[in-house]
Amino acid sequence: MPRTKKQIQSVKGMHDILPEEQPWFDYVLKKGREILEDYGFSRIETPVLEYTELFEKGVGLGTDIVEKEMYSFKTRGGDQLTLRPEGTVPIVRAFIENGMQSLPQPIKLWYFSPMFRHEQPQAGRYRQFWQLGVELIGDFNPSSDAEIIFILYKLLQELGFKDLVFQINSIGDENCRPEYKKVLKNFYRSKIKRVCASCRVRFRKNILRMLDCGNEGCKEILKSGPQIVDFLDEECKEHFKTVLEFLDEIEVPYILNPFLVRGLDYYNRTIFEVKDESEIQLAGGGRYDKLIELLGGTKFGAVGWAIGVDRVIIDLKKIGIKLPKTREKPKIFLVQLGELAKKKSLILFEEFRKAGINIQASFSRDSIKSQLRIANKLGVRFTLIFGQREALDGNIILRDMGSSVQEIIPIEKIIEEVKKRLKEI
Ligand code: HAM
Repeated sequence: MPRTKKQIQSVKGMHDILPEEQPWFDYVLKKGREILEDYGFSRIETPVLEYTELFEKGVGLGTDIVEKEMYSFKTRGGDQLTLRPEGTVPIVRAFIENGMQSLPQPIKLWYFSPMFRHEQPQAGRYRQFWQLGVELIGDFNPSSDAEIIFILYKLLQELGFKDLVFQINSIGDENCRPEYKKVLKNFYRSKIKRVCASCRVRFRKNILRMLDCGNEGCKEILKSGPQIVDFLDEECKEHFKTVLEFLDEIEVPYILNPFLVRGLDYYNRTIFEVKDESEIQLAGGGRYDKLIELLGGTKFGAVGWAIGVDRVIIDLKKIGIKLPKTREKPKIFLVQLGELAKKKSLILFEEFRKAGINIQASFSRDSIKSQLRIANKLGVRFTLIFGQREALDGNIILRDMGSSVQEIIPIEKIIEEVKKRLKEI
């Protein structure tokens, strides 16, 4: 029996981003860069690896991300490291470590980076995925919450989304949350037999996550449950009210979702998410005023969000967005024949490129037929044919692909000649 060769595949849940897919990533990156830099954000990139402890502390030990989804390992040197599952905590680490605390505040940063979570893969849910995100550090004011929500709204609009609605909530802070948790626990106590198995675990470990359950039965029970907005203290209430007034003023469409919670422990006060019509979460974020202190810095207010780039791209394709052409079609194709011409062709190609003329060639091919076939396929207006004889004589043949007329041109004049011809068409 012939042994079939075992082919090594990509890691489960991780996908290649092939050349045909790159223009979509470039599109999101370009739009993101334009808008974020207009609004004064600077790009930051942190390492993909951090000490595991950073996420345990920052994201929270009781979260699904830290408990079940991190790629963590011990290095040969004995360090306990983790592939970053999200960008906020590493950026706060970098903010403190690089002395940004002493710079004029707020500091506005953005990133476009891969993240890693060991989740159950499915359409739009990967184990390596890309986030485009922002962090505004150094401001407690509700105007900052509104500002970054507005920027997210504008970005999604400019990417091509219409009719997106923000879901927004306030989860208060350490002053108001304990009371709410107590009331929520009392509410569920008599109903615990009716909730799903995961919710029974959440009831013990992280009761707020019960608000996030997708199970229909649990959702029904929750409808009559207590809402955190009713437990906000005066300051949190005022903060939330002002955020909403700002959003009304700048016309960002939102709905209040009193049961919205997020899967990361660092949030306080405002949180928000954007979902598509299939309830897939495209973006999420919120305020995290305690995180900087928690990670060893001083007291700074902060707020941010991240978009799931892979998911956004899936949806942009679904809604039929056409990508703008980033590169004009080549107008010239260089055909080379024989050793000498092949050697000189690379230099010639570079001279055309430097002159700003979009030229193509296939240096790996030898026959004139196959090279002309490519030139035809590309639909170029002119082909340059550079053979052994031309290379020796210092000439090149210029072929008009429309009329098939060929002319011999001295090599030193060819760039000027091509420029002239291209201007004429
Ligand atoms: P997050 O909601 O965990 O927030 O992730 C942000 C976005 O990343 C989600 O809305 C989703 O679109 C995308 N995403 C999450 N997991 C996956 C996955 N497995 N596959 C594909 N896409 C995924 C954060 O990460 C926070 N750091 C956001 C933030 C920034 N909050 C404040 N500043």
